Amino acid sequence: MDNRKKTVKDYIRTIVDFPHEGIMFRDVTTLFADARGFRICIDQLLHPYAGERIDKVVGLEARGFIIGGAIAHQLSVGFVPIRKKGKLPGATLTQAYTLEYGEAVMEVHDDAIQPGEKVLVVDDLLATGGTCEAGIRLIERMGGDIVGCAFIIDLPDLGGRRKLEALGMDVHVLCEFEGA
Ligand code: PRP
Ligand code: MG
Repeated sequence: MDNRKKTVKDYIRTIVDFPHEGIMFRDVTTLFADARGFRICIDQLLHPYAGERIDKVVGLEARGFIIGGAIAHQLSVGFVPIRKKGKLPGATLTQAYTLEYGEAVMEVHDDAIQPGEKVLVVDDLLATGGTCEAGIRLIERMGGDIVGCAFIIDLPDLGGRRKLEALGMDVHVLCEFEGA
C-alpha cells in the first residue's frame, strides 16, 4: 500500500492466538516502530483537544506510557503514570478493578495531580473499560478534572466506550476492531 495513504489502523498488526488460543492480539508495536505511523497516531489522538487547556497527561500501564509521554511532550505538560500495584515508590492511592478472571489493582502517586487540574487520559486499547475506569476514579479522587479519554483502538463488542460515557467521559478512539 502507498505509505502516504495508510491509516493508523493499517499499521496495527494482528497476532492470532496470543496470549491465549482464540484471542486476536492487536499489536501496536508495528505502529510505534514506523516513523509516519507513530507521528500520525500522536497527532490524531490530540486532534479533538486542540485549543483546550490540558495540565497533565495520564498514561495507563503499559502502552499508555509510550503514547502519553509523546503527547505530554508535544503539549509541554507533565506526564503521570497509573501503574499496576507495587511498582510506584511513593505514597499511593489504589483502586481495584475487574478483569475477565478476578480482580487487579491500579495505583497512582497521591500527589501526582492537584485539585482542578485538567487531565487527558490515554491508553492503547479500550476493551471492557475496567482499566480506564480505575484510572478515572483515581484521578477524580485527587480532584482532577478529566478533559477526555483517548485510545488508539476500541473493541466495541466489549462495551468499554458505553461504560466510560456513562461515567460522563468524552471518549476518543482512532479505530475499531470487531470481536474480542
Ligand atoms: C490492556 C490494554 C489496556 C487494557 C484494556 O492492558 O493495554 O490497558 O488491557 O482492557 P479493559 O478495557 O478491559 O480494561 P493489559 O491489562 O493487558 O496490560 P499491559 O498494558 O500492562 O500489557
Ligand atoms: Mg494496558
